[in-house]
Amino acid sequence: PITRYYHFELKIIKLSPDGVERKVWSVNGQYPGPLIHANKGDRLVVNVTNNLGDPATIHWHGIFQRKTNWYDGVPGQTQCPIPSRVCFTYNFTLEQGGTYWYHSHFLAQYVDGLLGPLIVHDKEDPYCHSYDEEYVVTLSDWYHFPSAPLLVQRVAPHYTGFNPYPDSAIISGIGQYNCSGAPAGCYCDRNVPPATYNVKKGKKYRFRIINTSAYAAFTFSIDCHQLRVVEVDGNIVKNVSDAVVTVLPIHVAQRYSVIVTANQKVDNYYIRASIMENCLLPRTPETINYNSSINPNATGILHYHGANNEKPTSTAYPITFDPCQDLNADAIRPYKDCPPPKDVTDHFLFNTTFARNDDDVGLLGINDVSFVPIFNNPTNQRIMLKEDYRDFDKNQNIYAYDTPDGCVEIILLNGQPANHPFHLHGHAFWIMAQGPGATLDNITAYNFKNPVIRDTTMVFANSHLVIRYIADNPGVWAFHCHIEWHVEMGLVAQLIERPTEFSNQTLPDDVRALCMQFNNYKKERR
Ligand code: C2O
Repeated sequence: PITRYYHFELKIIKLSPDGVERKVWSVNGQYPGPLIHANKGDRLVVNVTNNLGDPATIHWHGIFQRKTNWYDGVPGQTQCPIPSRVCFTYNFTLEQGGTYWYHSHFLAQYVDGLLGPLIVHDKEDPYCHSYDEEYVVTLSDWYHFPSAPLLVQRVAPHYTGFNPYPDSAIISGIGQYNCSGAPAGCYCDRNVPPATYNVKKGKKYRFRIINTSAYAAFTFSIDCHQLRVVEVDGNIVKNVSDAVVTVLPIHVAQRYSVIVTANQKVDNYYIRASIMENCLLPRTPETINYNSSINPNATGILHYHGANNEKPTSTAYPITFDPCQDLNADAIRPYKDCPPPKDVTDHFLFNTTFARNDDDVGLLGINDVSFVPIFNNPTNQRIMLKEDYRDFDKNQNIYAYDTPDGCVEIILLNGQPANHPFHLHGHAFWIMAQGPGATLDNITAYNFKNPVIRDTTMVFANSHLVIRYIADNPGVWAFHCHIEWHVEMGLVAQLIERPTEFSNQTLPDDVRALCMQFNNYKKERR
């Protein structure tokens, strides 16, 4: 294992990923941000210089951050935000192989482009020798307006619409927008060259696909080519017949690796990444960005070596399943049998809720509490200063459990008409049960045999989810819907894992210093 150093300069640039120019919150002037490659066991040191003019943090989605909870990048939970003009260094080891990503966790900055892929190679990956080359594909919904004004409208008093409607779909930083729908006065380029992936006939390719959207579920397919699913959110899966698909559903923040064999005629084929509009909430006239003439389809090209440069003539595979739900669980059995514990030590029952506050702002919550981060006072630091964790309470959506290596069970009942892709920090979880109905009675059977293990799963409208995981990672971990608009509306819980032990860890000086810098920054701005 080695230490890998990266330098991130966060800055706002002008870019036109889908042809329409806008301000983009970037890492090193790139969208998506630079690809981080490492090997399992490596240490990653990322020096972040924040030149955005606004505070920021970087979260490393899916990385366990064992013994480095303070580098998980969640403002108010694990660190203070990095003020503008300040540098902060993230420093952690990568104990997991697989496909991950990083993104700002400060307000909705990642919706504005502050994100990138993080790939951890593992020489023990059983599929290592099953492909010749690999590609990383990021998918995203995209908005022509910055997130800040959209967010203001989303949480405005009396607002009755749903989430801001996206304008286009992006594959690996590139989309195709019909410029006649572009906002007035905006520069728009009709001829953005499509994302192109070169293959040689007879070779095999691993595509690592990451949905970095704010809101949208995607389907991904390559005309005339099957996709063999081998990895799900960093977890290697069994080679079973159900794992071969033609169309892959991928929800917000999920990742898949698929192996594609270039076994077709030498030619060009469309790669299709499409926003599933019918998985979004209905677009009513009240909806922010109602007038969007959305292009929900981003197309890339699979180009065989030796083929001409003409447009593909290939046709799309039909979608024969419900793309709003997770990939069929039979397709994603863990590679190594890894049964969940039979007994539970800690148990939480979470209901998703929606209510209007006294100002008539519609807020989401868990058990009727809408989460509010306290930016200048991260929970993990309060615990390390030996504040009694029992003082944190469910009225703030903060839940603690203290049994070393106990088994935690979370039952999530989503009685809302909205889909919620839920993500747990610091862990991957077993999916014990998942299905229609948002009451305890709807949970009829648990899968003890070979449940899927992942870190983000889609909780469909009016449905339930039961997950289990081992409390093997002391720290403060967020559990939240990954639709960014829902995060800002409070659909977040905070889990304090093994506070007794965690409070004995030593907080690095720079993490503590960051809070002083942030508090000074706030004073100056007052
Ligand atoms: Cu992708 Cu709270 O994270």
